[in-house]
Amino acid sequence: MKERPIVSDQEMLRQQEFMKLVKALDARPQSYHIVSMGCQMNERDSESIAGMLNEMGMRHEPVREQADLILYNTCCVRENAENKALGNVIWLKELKKDKPELMICVGGCMTQEKGMAAMMKRRYPFIDLVYGTHNLYKLPEYIYRVLTEKRPVVEVMDIDGEVVEGMPEARKSRFSAFVNIMYGCDNFCTYCIVPYVRGRERSRTPEAVIAECLRLQDEGAQEIMLLGQNVNSYRGGGAAFAELLYRIDKLGIPRIRFMTSHPKDLSDELIAAFGELEHLMPQLHLPVQAGSDEVLRRMNRSYSREHYLALVEKLREMCPEIGLTSDIIVGFPGETLSQFEETLSLVSAVRFDAAYTFIYSPRAGTRAAAYPDETPYAVKSERIQRLIDLQQAISLEVLEKQVGKRERVLVEAVSTRDSASVGGKTPRGHMVNFPGGAELIGKFVDVEITSAGRNTLRGRQIISEA
Ligand code: 5AD
Ligand code: SF4
Repeated sequence: MKERPIVSDQEMLRQQEFMKLVKALDARPQSYHIVSMGCQMNERDSESIAGMLNEMGMRHEPVREQADLILYNTCCVRENAENKALGNVIWLKELKKDKPELMICVGGCMTQEKGMAAMMKRRYPFIDLVYGTHNLYKLPEYIYRVLTEKRPVVEVMDIDGEVVEGMPEARKSRFSAFVNIMYGCDNFCTYCIVPYVRGRERSRTPEAVIAECLRLQDEGAQEIMLLGQNVNSYRGGGAAFAELLYRIDKLGIPRIRFMTSHPKDLSDELIAAFGELEHLMPQLHLPVQAGSDEVLRRMNRSYSREHYLALVEKLREMCPEIGLTSDIIVGFPGETLSQFEETLSLVSAVRFDAAYTFIYSPRAGTRAAAYPDETPYAVKSERIQRLIDLQQAISLEVLEKQVGKRERVLVEAVSTRDSASVGGKTPRGHMVNFPGGAELIGKFVDVEITSAGRNTLRGRQIISEA
């Protein structure tokens, strides 16, 4: 991975000045609502956006229709994500008819797609600001321009991203935090649009990452999730990902997790970390995508089924309790029935705790979009249903095996279904609900698992007798 320039301090100071300028304007939005679509990387970006908007003197408005500024942080990994974003934007046009001062901003992966910004400018002139993934840090300048020039700003940078340090932030959670360690992806899996919209791989320095972790720890973080499209190829200041993890482990933050990992780059050192590090949780998201070597080859995944299965074996040898999760694509162009059945047999062999399953969605500009695809959609739907049924049965069996165990749960929230219960995760990443009140949020609670549902566990708090 190449060293990448860091956006200069001077530029970040300029943006701070724009935040002050916006704040001083009489006619500016007073409140904002951010809609974050897609992955954790976007969620983390939304925390930076919220931080910038707060510094511009705006406050978060939980009800979207009531906000003066609505910002869509979009995703484009599959067509339905894009349709959802565009559908929402069209709906905003109606809202703006009743509220002409409403400011509409659209950014993120979708707007970074080739030709998208130009199309949006032409077809949706009511959008006030369109920006991409590489110029998020310029949001204060763009918002100032929209407000003072009184015309839309459409700015998407073609150049590859730099590393941005020092953006303001408004974290969603005080005790569980996302920390970016690298950006972009160089893998060019043939189905995937991410390398085109998020740019080339670039890492933050270990010092910047550790400084952020220390700050979060001071502020009360109990858990951090290190983020990157492919954290295994992290290389910051010469340090590999496993080295970074060893350094972070020493800080003493109780729980460390990371995502996403690419099987081709999962090193023995990293596998060893699961046996050695005190704070690294026994959980790994390791997308396999397909179970057939031929499909993996055409996906440009650079590993075989056998290699993946060997990794799983090594991981379980090192850490028998590790919970593995995965992403799987069904109906990749040319996937035959028997190739699909190899995915089923891989899933049966590995027994993931959970898997996110997707029907292949062609993305313009990717190599696979030009591959012949003769399988009817109805057949793909049947296939994915077989896969979902299989995985659900496995997930249930995995969860049932947890019944009777004692687990330490980091409580995240009051349960959505039952206000007398709270929910949080075990070290392995299983969600447990148990009777308890909001005062437990952010705390560790020892819980006995009493039953298993389809996706979650139930338990009861163990009150120590000491
Ligand atoms: N179609 C379907 N699924 C996709 N993914 C990425 N690109 C596509 C696509 N074109 C899935 C992969 C990836 C996850 C984030 O999204 O499984 O791991
Ligand atoms: Fe997309 Fe492959 Fe990169 Fe993941 S590793 S972001 S699937 S190109």
